[in-house]
Amino acid sequence: MLKITQYQDLDKIMMGSTINGQLLYTVFAFFLDGLLIDTGCHNTRYELIDYLGSKELSKVVNTHHHIDHIGANQAIMDKFKVPIFAHPEALPFIADGFHVFSYQKELWGAPTFCRVKPLGKKITTKRFDFEVIHTGGHSKGHVVLFLKNRGWLFTGDEFLTNKPNSSSRFTDNHQMIKALQKMMNFESELLITCSGGIFKKGKKILSRTIDYYRETESNVLSLTRQGLTPAEIVLKLFNGETPLYEYTNGEFSRQNFVEGFLKKSSLENC
Ligand SMILES: [Fe+2]
Repeated sequence: MLKITQYQDLDKIMMGSTINGQLLYTVFAFFLDGLLIDTGCHNTRYELIDYLGSKELSKVVNTHHHIDHIGANQAIMDKFKVPIFAHPEALPFIADGFHVFSYQKELWGAPTFCRVKPLGKKITTKRFDFEVIHTGGHSKGHVVLFLKNRGWLFTGDEFLTNKPNSSSRFTDNHQMIKALQKMMNFESELLITCSGGIFKKGKKILSRTIDYYRETESNVLSLTRQGLTPAEIVLKLFNGETPLYEYTNGEFSRQNFVEGFLKKSSLENC
């Protein structure tokens, strides 16, 4: 399933898979002035190509290597012969692959891994210069794109919502906080996220989100010192698990989010 909506001259491209008649998950890519930001799922690659057929596509950026952001890379290269860029740290994952969970394959389709080009510090289109900011919190080599003259910050998966409470088991919330702090260095008016949300007063929202992470961390550490397990902390702070817990066999969960405050680091395999 693919659906286009517009925000001013920005095309928001919603993609998702329907399983047993239910739309379980969606992800957004964006098109502006010849630039496609992310290529979405493998399952929707032909719908995306149909949409792009009426556009003047000149280049593509992958914000990061996760399969719901690179799924149509090979199909787009084959059809349009345009360059696709990603941060150098993301290139080996995009080219050689990495472990993909079965729920991810079912939701989004297993992509064809392929070589893309290293991003520099800027991406230029006919009308705009996008600044490339390496944040690397959500995954190794994650970038966000800043369109300075509009104050638009394309956050990828680095910022999805102002009060997150679920994550994959690779998430390290200290890295997430560092990434948010990096984004705070830019005067963002809008946060344009891959969950489809567009948040106004961008910099203020980032600041409040950092406060939220700090406050949650303090609660998690305090409850841990009192002897509660991560699962008990989930019950106490969030009233139980996310509905996606069972479907993903716990790979996406609130417990992971809680444990994301208790680990030292680990983006090596994500
Ligand atoms: Fe991601």
